Amino acid sequence: MELNGKLAIVTGVSKGIGLETVKVLLDAGMVVAGWGRTDNSIDHENYHFFKTDVADWDNVQASFKATKDKLGKASVLINNAGFGVQGLIHEMDVEDWKSMFDVNVHGLFYCIKVAAPDMIDMEEGHIVNISSIAGTNGVKTMSGYVGTKHAVTGIGHSIFLELRDHGIKVTTIYPGSTNTNFFDDMEFATANPNMMRPQDIAQTILGSLQTHPNYHVVDVEVRPLKPKG
Ligand SMILES: NC(=O)c1ccc[n+]([C@@H]2O[C@H](COP(=O)([O-])OP(=O)(O)OC[C@H]3O[C@@H](n4cnc5c(N)ncnc54)[C@H](OP(=O)(O)O)[C@@H]3O)[C@@H](O)[C@H]2O)c1
Repeated sequence: MELNGKLAIVTGVSKGIGLETVKVLLDAGMVVAGWGRTDNSIDHENYHFFKTDVADWDNVQASFKATKDKLGKASVLINNAGFGVQGLIHEMDVEDWKSMFDVNVHGLFYCIKVAAPDMIDMEEGHIVNISSIAGTNGVKTMSGYVGTKHAVTGIGHSIFLELRDHGIKVTTIYPGSTNTNFFDDMEFATANPNMMRPQDIAQTILGSLQTHPNYHVVDVEVRPLKPKG
């Protein structure tokens, strides 16, 4: 897709992969609507923040309306907002479990549900969902998070079959460990420079967007080359 001047919605823009994705999309000439609970410090004429908790259906609908009223129809949606809580299954807090599904799965659905109709009208669009290696494998002490990311994988694989006939691409990205704040509250891993850089995930997202109209990148798995250094 030709990106220059087109509108992208990116969720979870305060830090990490979402923040770096906003930067590369602005550099590529896109107008970016950042949907998140917390803003970043980007000061750019083409960056617009809409305070959004993606787990809140009413809030997502309101942000969609505000975005469309101000900036028009979005050609790109990057579903990045997400988090994980570590814990053995029998010790997992029920609210933590539900909250992961509310953000990582239901929030992703809400954003696709509001954004897809305009893409269908335009017969052009690209939805990028950030799953994880945890969306393909089991991970000890991460069953809830793994469950959410397997859901993201399955949703992406299903909707690309629905939306391709409308000229809409759906790409699922499966990052391995990435050096972000994701690990702040986890015991089993600490973010470190042997992990991938979030700006490289952002470049991968950009690469999937900058493809020929009849070239559809469906799945992209990325890992650090030397995770132990
Ligand atoms: N880091 C990794 O190793 C890794 C690997 C595979 C996949 N991922 C996935 O990559 C995505 C980005 O994570 P990250 O590594 O960049 O982590 P991060 O640095 O912790 O950033 C997470 C972002 O999601 C936002 N967010 C969380 N809950 C939200 C909600 N309810 N509504 C709106 N925004 C919300 C956060 O906003 P606040 O600042 O307001 O909390 C923050 O901007 C996630 O989906 C994660 O599962 C990460």
